[in-house]
Amino acid sequence: MIQRETWGSRIGLILAVAGNAIGLGNFLRFPVQAAENGGGAFMIPYMISLFLLGIPLLWIEWALGRYGSARGHGTAVAVFDYLWKSPIAKYIGFLGIMIPLAVVVYYTYIESWTLLYSFFGLIGGLPSTPLTDNVKDYLQPFQQFFVEKIGATGEGIFLHPSPETYLFFVITLAVNIYILYRGISAGIEKVAKFAMPLIFVMAIILMVRVFTLSSPDGRNFLDGLGFLWNPDFSALLDPMVWLAAAGQVFFTLSVGFGAILTYASYLKPKDDIALNGLAGASVNEFAEIILGGSIAITASVIFFGIPATKMIAEQGAFDLGFMALPAIFANIPYGQFFSFIWFLLLFFAGITSSIALSQPAIAFLEDELGWSKKKAVLSIGVFLFLSAHIPIFIRGALDEIDFWVGTLGLVLFALFEAVIFFWIYDPKKAWQELTRDNDIQIPKIFYYIMRYVAPGLLIVILLSWGVQKLPERLSSSDIGVWIARLFLILLIVIGVILIKKAWERRDGRAST
Ligand code: PHE
Repeated sequence: MIQRETWGSRIGLILAVAGNAIGLGNFLRFPVQAAENGGGAFMIPYMISLFLLGIPLLWIEWALGRYGSARGHGTAVAVFDYLWKSPIAKYIGFLGIMIPLAVVVYYTYIESWTLLYSFFGLIGGLPSTPLTDNVKDYLQPFQQFFVEKIGATGEGIFLHPSPETYLFFVITLAVNIYILYRGISAGIEKVAKFAMPLIFVMAIILMVRVFTLSSPDGRNFLDGLGFLWNPDFSALLDPMVWLAAAGQVFFTLSVGFGAILTYASYLKPKDDIALNGLAGASVNEFAEIILGGSIAITASVIFFGIPATKMIAEQGAFDLGFMALPAIFANIPYGQFFSFIWFLLLFFAGITSSIALSQPAIAFLEDELGWSKKKAVLSIGVFLFLSAHIPIFIRGALDEIDFWVGTLGLVLFALFEAVIFFWIYDPKKAWQELTRDNDIQIPKIFYYIMRYVAPGLLIVILLSWGVQKLPERLSSSDIGVWIARLFLILLIVIGVILIKKAWERRDGRAST
């Protein structure tokens, strides 16, 4: 067996895992989800989902990764095949490669916008906006800037991003590929050691700045924090709020993608997973609810009030972070500089996540097909570059891919992880595997959560969510939507072919 890579140090591993989890989800997605779903009303289902779904599934994914590491494999394809003696197990495991790979196709593109925006902040090229009472007028220059750069105007199937947007995308992708090429400890771990402290420093600077904001009509940061932290129990009865909260917990912890599994596969076979997993999750939650919850959403509530903040969040996923926040900064001293810091923060948070999203596919090519690192990384690079043209140029494609993999796929994959480990494989052996060689003890109650509660909840989520969203989705027949779906189908076909090839190779070796 070829020697697989491993993490260089424990602190490096934790920073890399925190970098994996802390991403655009913490600073862009979380505030939008929280605002859209009623602030304080969102936080209760969020906390409950964190303990009943997020943490238990995170530990399961770590355990599966460490199980793979002892056997020289870093993806769910091989791990599921070990745990479940069925020929279809490995194909189900392919979800753990396909989901992150499809997500990274558009994730890297959004990440490149943050680099573009930080560049414009640095050179003072972001719009300025005169103070007006009307929020819509106030945001208008920033909306226009976004539309010009990303090309989101007009009808028809083609978007027209500006040339500099395309250029920044190419730069962003190239940096990603370079880091991946350097490998686990010299690439990913090294970048995390540098980027993570920087992310915290930048986020704290921004948080302090936001806390010292006040609006002409007297709102201050307490109004902002109150929106998020005053519990509102009425929304507990709304299933959509629960779905949104559970979805956010998965997204932010990177659970249900397969990316944690792959990172954990670079552990040494007897390394701890319980404390490492919990440490990564804790750092992520600090970055999400403390830092992520205190910047964009708080600033917006201070400046515009709660109803307008909700409206901004409902307008689209990017309005709060790319329009409202820089528009607020545009009216404070050194505003462009704060925008620069904000977008640079997003960029660093984004890149430590996008490399994590790409790594499962690379691990698969290396572990199962025996490709060299160079060949694997270059192939993934070319694939990502070509595929990105779909979300870059085709209207509606980004949303559609995000729906299938970034919203539905991860819940499905998480369910498979729990069921294959705790039902099909063997509940006792699964628990033993999970609790061996750890630095802290996982409380026994998690056995029941992992075996019964979490899979049960996941099934409820999938069903209610399917009933709510699927019919509407499937009825859309836009050409852009179809291109996105064809892309996903193509990915599945390529996956099946490669897995077949890998297993032929294995059987060939086994019989000689
Ligand atoms: N957790 C990341 C975020 O919050 C997204 C991500 C998911 C990254 C899965 C890697 C793997 O943005």
